[in-house]
Amino acid sequence: MKTINIALLGFGTVGSGVAETIKRNSQMMAEQLGCQLKITYVLVRHPDKYKNVPLLEGVHLTSSFEEIMADPDIGIVVEVMGGIHPAKEYIFEALNHKMSVVSANKDVVALFGPEIMHTAMENHVNFSCEASVGGGIPILRPLHDSLAANEIESIVGIVNGTTNFILSSMDEEGVSYSDALRVAQKKGFAEADPTNDVCGYDAARKLAILASIGFRANVTFDDVLVEGIEKISQKDVQYASEMGYAIKLLAVGTRQDNGIALNVYPAFVPRTHPLASVKGSYNAIYVTGNIVDDVMFYGRGAGSLPTASAVMADVISTAKHIMNGSTGTGMMLTETKRIPFYSSLKLKNSYYFRLIVDDVTGVLSQIASAYADHDISIKEVVQKSRFEDAAELMIITQDTPRENIIQVEKALQVLPCMRQVANIVRVMNDDRE
Ligand code: NDP
Ligand code: HSE
Repeated sequence: MKTINIALLGFGTVGSGVAETIKRNSQMMAEQLGCQLKITYVLVRHPDKYKNVPLLEGVHLTSSFEEIMADPDIGIVVEVMGGIHPAKEYIFEALNHKMSVVSANKDVVALFGPEIMHTAMENHVNFSCEASVGGGIPILRPLHDSLAANEIESIVGIVNGTTNFILSSMDEEGVSYSDALRVAQKKGFAEADPTNDVCGYDAARKLAILASIGFRANVTFDDVLVEGIEKISQKDVQYASEMGYAIKLLAVGTRQDNGIALNVYPAFVPRTHPLASVKGSYNAIYVTGNIVDDVMFYGRGAGSLPTASAVMADVISTAKHIMNGSTGTGMMLTETKRIPFYSSLKLKNSYYFRLIVDDVTGVLSQIASAYADHDISIKEVVQKSRFEDAAELMIITQDTPRENIIQVEKALQVLPCMRQVANIVRVMNDDRE
């Protein structure tokens, strides 16, 4: 039986999951493919660290990428080391050596996706990256193929396992933000630099990839406006819950009349919406097409074996192409066309405000006037607690353009009664019928 040799770049959370998957399911894969998949090289920075790992018995452990490129028997390079450099250079070099590449690296794909795809096609090899979005959830191929008959109207995703784990832990167990982050890191969900998770950059990269496929355009990380969860406090989580919402970090791509809008931000999600029930390291991507209406993809968004499942799906698909001589065809992310972007200042949302104010007569009328002056209609007001002659007010607005919210924040800050505009968070509407 033919063997397809694999070089694995990286042996951390995902790389070890890939090796484990091949070990557990090799016979089933061989029957499916008519060939064996074998890891022959593993590239790491510090080979000594991995010397006694049982999964690596019989595998050549190296820190030299050149050694791998010099071996003409490598069929597939699996890049699961992360970061932009040298991962990007290694991907291009492998493709130019006529080796197919599978990667889980959204940092690289979100910046260089089309360029990488064109290099792969020129070399008649494959590049695939299913695991770069949504961990184990099949989303890129279904968005590209299964929803091909649709004009995609919107993509709303919970696409970062670390932040979803943190927000769920704060909501359900009252765990502090920093303790929850520590657990997410221990479980292998977080990026090497967790700032990428909590500041929303990881979700923005994933949104760029989803939008490129869904809106058939060349969208990069730089096109996404990003806010993270750093300002979300235990109080916001608790008040959201009491008001019937869960706070989620959302990646939102919408088609507007004159362009697409791409934003990552934390939002109050109504408990009635399916995205509110996505907890822990689970992810979900809620897609609306003009023919299918709404579909939701759900599953583990991070972690060793779930992510390896997506990586190995790409490896198996690539192996099939190698076996039938069709590598370099049917690729995603090939669009180079740019499309207009809609100004996020015009985007309308309902907003939650948490205000700390003096507890004196006339405060509510001062605040109500500020909103009215900026053409903002108030939907709900709750006074939550009183402490040291101050009151805490929660205000939820009707749908309002972002630019009015920025203006009213400035006006509120200078009101004589205002002690602190403690937080402003978008509120998602559940407008499903
Ligand atoms: P880890 O930090 O757990 O592992 C990284 C591995 O790559 C280590 O073995 C490390 O070796 C090796 N490595 C890093 N840099 C280099 C380099 N310059 N040269 C050689 N080897 C290197 O990362 P993960 O497994 O968590 O993530 C890998 C990729 O998968 C990232 O792109 C990540 O975004 C993506 N991903 C991760 C998911 C997850 O749940 N963790 C889910 C989906 C995607 P050494 O120990 O010697 O430094
Ligand atoms: N750090 C990422 C997350 C890994 O938490 O979702 C999966 O891409």
